[in-house]
Amino acid sequence: MAHFPASNGRPAWRASVLTLFPDMFPGPLGISLVGHALEAQLWTLSTHQIRDFGLGRHRQVDDTPAGGGAGMVLRADVLGPAIDAARQANAESPSIYLSPRGRPFDQALAREFAAGPGLILLAGRFEGVDQRVIDERGLMEVSIGDYVLSGGELAAMVLIDACVRLLPGVLGAAESLAHESFESGLLEYPQYTRPREWEGAAIPDVLLSGDHKAIEAWRRAQSERITAERRPDLLEK
Ligand code: ADE
Repeated sequence: MAHFPASNGRPAWRASVLTLFPDMFPGPLGISLVGHALEAQLWTLSTHQIRDFGLGRHRQVDDTPAGGGAGMVLRADVLGPAIDAARQANAESPSIYLSPRGRPFDQALAREFAAGPGLILLAGRFEGVDQRVIDERGLMEVSIGDYVLSGGELAAMVLIDACVRLLPGVLGAAESLAHESFESGLLEYPQYTRPREWEGAAIPDVLLSGDHKAIEAWRRAQSERITAERRPDLLEK
């Protein structure tokens, strides 16, 4: 695979996704900010069809769980070679298995992944994947939240989106990271724009005062209030 430098002069950040549904990609990742960055080759996306590594005439990828039980499990002897092929093209990147059992994904992990060369993302379906492939290929399990999706593809997209918008050159000055939720460890303060009054509700006076110090202090206090009300766990960190 050709390895074009991105238009910011660095090698492009590389996302490689192993999936049974490559048609889901780029999907929302082809649109807007992240889509424009893809066109600008600030990042690259390659999908690897797991079925291409399937066994026999039917390209079987899964089998019944050892020990019994419902559902199907993706086979290690299918996923192993599929992961190895993805690693050939994206050798330096960590390999992630998207799973509700994984480490909770957060902005700090997004920053860590965005600072690296890219990610190899295994999107599972069915009941799961054979534990041996997780162990033998050293996959890091990552969860996007305490709920169960029907597959890892949407979770893979969430990781890619959160990382790509942090890459140098993706966000313009107008969309700076400085004040967003989590960058300061706090949730974002409330925002307002014209009209000055809407349905009897006015913009807080301080925001129209032109007093930048007072505005900054108000925003900080609002961020702290909202974080304390909604996410006290963030204040403890
Ligand atoms: N696959 C299914 N549910 C998931 C979740 N919550 N996070 C990551 N991958 C998943």
